[in-house]
Amino acid sequence: DRLVVAVDGPSGSGKSSVCRAAAAALGAAYLDTGAMYRAATWYCLREEVDLGDPEAVAVAVAELPLTISTNPDHQVVTVGEADVTAAIREATISEKVSQVATNPEARAVLIAAQRRIIDRAGFIVAEGRDITTVVAPDAQVRVLLTASAEARLKRRGAQLGGTQDPEALRRQVLDRDTKDSAASNFTEAADGVAVLDSSDLSFEETVESLTSRVLL
Ligand code: CDP
Repeated sequence: DRLVVAVDGPSGSGKSSVCRAAAAALGAAYLDTGAMYRAATWYCLREEVDLGDPEAVAVAVAELPLTISTNPDHQVVTVGEADVTAAIREATISEKVSQVATNPEARAVLIAAQRRIIDRAGFIVAEGRDITTVVAPDAQVRVLLTASAEARLKRRGAQLGGTQDPEALRRQVLDRDTKDSAASNFTEAADGVAVLDSSDLSFEETVESLTSRVLL
């Protein structure tokens, strides 16, 4: 039987860590769709694709040799022979990923791949900005994980070790939301999507709030 938990949310809302922990607690698979957009961006850069050329980006993403594990305790992303699990988290990727993510043809390719992964897994926590609305609108549990801009900046800063320039951080987190919002409106919950505001919740409380919505 299929049991899909779909979680949406802006940068720094904690959706990746919360979803991974929730999947592990539930014994479910886990899919980070953002990692797929990041891997696609990594591939375009390696292939020296001009990110300003939408057709070139679409062609590259159509032939992207991507694998992504769905084990919440062991995330591995590969592109061809390269293990890109760490490389896709680098700032260069964060800065450029919107150029791939706003490409409709690239999105279509990645969304089709995401649906196949979800179908194959059956029981899965899947996260990403269009999961509740586009990728898996039929999911049994659909949640928009939000947090105030202040809370999101603080968390992303802590995640990065607290060493980066505050202005650069603000640019990375908040500006990316603005860039992305052309492609996906994740700041408002769609019909039937529950809002989980984690601004005043601890990590554990947030995970608990998510897992408690899944009736096994
Ligand atoms: O770092 P953050 O949690 O904000 O984002 P992510 O989940 O790692 O996703 C990186 C980028 O991929 C986002 O900024 C979006 O541009 C794009 N993305 C998307 O367009 N649709 C998704 N379902 C997931 C990610």
